[in-house]
Amino acid sequence: MKALLLAGGLGTRLRPLTENLPKPMALVGNRPWLEHLIVNFKNQGIQDFVLAVKHYSNEIRNHFGDGRSWGVNIEYAVEETLLGTAGAIKNAENLLSDRFLVVNADIIHEVSIMPLLDYHIQHKGIVTIGLTEVEDPSQYGVVEQNGSGKILRFVEKPKRDEAPSRRVNAGIYVMEKQVLEWIPKNTEVSIERETFPLLIEKNIGVYGTTIQGYWMDMGTKDRYRKLHWDLLDRKFSLPLQEKEQDYGIRIGEGTKIGSGVLFVPPVLIGNEVHIGDRSVIGPYAVIGDRCEIGHHVRCSETIMWNDCKVQDAAQLKNCIFGYGLELGSRHILHEAVMNRTAGGMKG
Ligand code: GTP
Repeated sequence: MKALLLAGGLGTRLRPLTENLPKPMALVGNRPWLEHLIVNFKNQGIQDFVLAVKHYSNEIRNHFGDGRSWGVNIEYAVEETLLGTAGAIKNAENLLSDRFLVVNADIIHEVSIMPLLDYHIQHKGIVTIGLTEVEDPSQYGVVEQNGSGKILRFVEKPKRDEAPSRRVNAGIYVMEKQVLEWIPKNTEVSIERETFPLLIEKNIGVYGTTIQGYWMDMGTKDRYRKLHWDLLDRKFSLPLQEKEQDYGIRIGEGTKIGSGVLFVPPVLIGNEVHIGDRSVIGPYAVIGDRCEIGHHVRCSETIMWNDCKVQDAAQLKNCIFGYGLELGSRHILHEAVMNRTAGGMKG
């Protein structure tokens, strides 16, 4: 079975980090999320991937190529114009198997594919939507299902006490190729807002089953931060390369730490990072490979991608820095989200 990973959206809510990068390539625990996703699926037996790409597609192609380095096969379905989540699936038609998996590549999850696939086969629908339970359904489209799991309708943003369930679309589907007959070619179509409601209205057999484990849509800056704190708090696990040197303190290879540096756990420090004397790092700091941190720097609740330089005595709290950001000495930054080429914004 092939997996189609939807990775072409603009990621507007995560700008400026996604100003020149596809959202699924955002670092999660110091590695591009898409890499974690492909490795996870490979470990569950998926060998063949189709990546549906558009926004900065070369960033993805240059990183993964044909997938050989990861021991998988990767093909690309490139859109000339953005086709939306259903249009992107239609655009990949020639590359897909009769039954295939579709995943929004910006969802952080620990989904087990086999139970989802077994459910799909048993219920004989043409789509099975992976569902996840949320605390507050009023922010989402929740599903109403019958006793056999068939989806009867989506209820958008219901009031808390009027919601038919707390189950929402998790952005992970098993599909039969017949679904593509319901999606027009070369047209922008949303799978969530158009195709699924149409299939449900026509009673074509759309089922839903709850997936277990962690789930988070990384699409906003708040959620992007939250998923990192959840990772550091061990609410879900990823195969991190950095070794745990002390409880909650993970440090990569070749990293040099000055005298009197204080790590306040939890922290994740990448490879070949330099940290100057008497800096205080953490709690909640994720520092990418080859970053250079000066002396007397304070850095908490902050995520820094690879190759950033922070000069002496800077104070950072609740910041996110894209690749290669440089910050002068004594800067005090709270809640800044910045990218070297695209500048910064609050949020
Ligand atoms: P925002 O602009 O912040 O809403 O982000 P987005 O449009 O990139 O993401 P959204 O949450 O709407 O999409 C979910 C997933 O589908 C993400 O992994 C996107 O990359 C992907 N996606 C969304 N639209 C398209 C599209 O038109 N083509 C392709 N190939 N993928 C898409």
